[in-house]
Amino acid sequence: MDKINTNTKIGDLDLNEIYCEDCVIGMQKIPDNSVDLVLTSPPYDNLRDYKGYSFDFEKIAEQIYRVIKQGGVLVWVVGDKTKNGNRSLTSFRHALFFQALGFNAHDVMIYQKKNTPFMRSNAYTNCFEFMFIFSKGSPNTFNPLKTKTVRQGKEKLVANKKTDGINNKVWGELKSEKTLINIWEYAVGLGGSTNDKIAFQHSAIFPEKLATDHILSWTNENDIVVDPMTGSGTTCKMAKLYKRNFIGFDISEEYVNIAKERIKLLDNQFLLDL
Ligand SMILES: C[S@@+](CC[C@H](N)C(=O)[O-])C[C@H]1O[C@@H](n2cnc3c(N)ncnc32)[C@H](O)[C@@H]1O
Repeated sequence: MDKINTNTKIGDLDLNEIYCEDCVIGMQKIPDNSVDLVLTSPPYDNLRDYKGYSFDFEKIAEQIYRVIKQGGVLVWVVGDKTKNGNRSLTSFRHALFFQALGFNAHDVMIYQKKNTPFMRSNAYTNCFEFMFIFSKGSPNTFNPLKTKTVRQGKEKLVANKKTDGINNKVWGELKSEKTLINIWEYAVGLGGSTNDKIAFQHSAIFPEKLATDHILSWTNENDIVVDPMTGSGTTCKMAKLYKRNFIGFDISEEYVNIAKERIKLLDNQFLLDL
């Protein structure tokens, strides 16, 4: 088992901070093989207008691979732009690049949005983004999220066929819960993604529940979670709420201020709850 991390620093950086920096430079201050989870979402094909934005995917991917520890996980949440009826497929290019770097393509999950606007007249309404799950080797941690099964209690279940060819039924206990499927659906917008109004000053946040579900699945308390493109700070906020250490980077000062404000709101909430 990994040792519990009680440090307040990682390399040259303070843990539990959000830095206004190009994440390629920022991640260079993090030692090799030291991060349990990178949970992030990059800018999608210039789909949104990010202030001060510079996005060198390959350099970012290389740094992510370097800082993640053996058994650590990358969750890469990404969608594609459609221009003149042609999907960019950038998400696939990213995924193949990560695999070529040495990551194991542990899973390809879907982030389905509950409330999506109608967008195209000659294609079905797109309602999802990819959540690529990459791991360095096999994941160290998997805490499967569960859901209740429809049928519970005792039932007569088919037992193994014997040589007489007869299927015997025997009383058995049905499982009361099962592991979730890999399509996760979330409400988006105010009250869905978050109740923090300030977060919507950023145009492309992912839901707090999405961040929570990945943090709980792939890490344990005190682990280190990094979001190199943290935007409004969703990953950092949920990492803090669930007692993980975090580091966030964003190239935009405006977004870093929003992220810090959200962490402050959470701290105030903690104080109110005392
Ligand atoms: C899709 S948004 C992330 C949103 C975030 N998941 C949230 O819930 O708020 C992508 C972010 O990447 C940032 N970004 C783009 N290039 C960057 C770079 N080189 N280093 C750090 N941040 C960068 C943008 O400013 C933007 O906030």
